[in-house]
Amino acid sequence: MNASAEVRALASIEVDIADVEVGQQLTVKFRGKPVFIRRRTPEEIEMGRAVKTEELPDPTAQNLNLGPDADASDQNRTLDEAGEWLVMIGVCTHLGCIPIGEAGDFGGWFCPCHGSHYDTAGRIRKGPAPLNLLVPKTARLSDTVIKLG
Ligand code: FES
Repeated sequence: MNASAEVRALASIEVDIADVEVGQQLTVKFRGKPVFIRRRTPEEIEMGRAVKTEELPDPTAQNLNLGPDADASDQNRTLDEAGEWLVMIGVCTHLGCIPIGEAGDFGGWFCPCHGSHYDTAGRIRKGPAPLNLLVPKTARLSDTVIKLG
């Protein structure tokens, strides 16, 4: 089956991340959904890495770049080895609201719809959401450009 030109155009997008400073988040729309691209601070990285995966409600990475068995360690959630870049679909895994950044009890994202708290790696920590925020298929094309899809 051949995909239409429109569908193919949406299959992937390139995003310029050159202007994203440490501690900032860029939100882009991809396939009709918000994608959060966060450049984490050293403190956020440290907080994410200090968590043991056994403590997590959803112990799986939820990262489309890894296999389904990958655990939800901080390293398995981020784009780069240093853990600075975190790319996630900004849709709450409870009923689909858009979480707010730099909020909630774990310093990450908070979904006010029914009170789900995500940590600095976008992993669900408290509230009704069952799963970590999804990490989409992402590739680093250069220091300043990433590709989604
Ligand atoms: S939709 Fe996010 S907590 Fe219900």
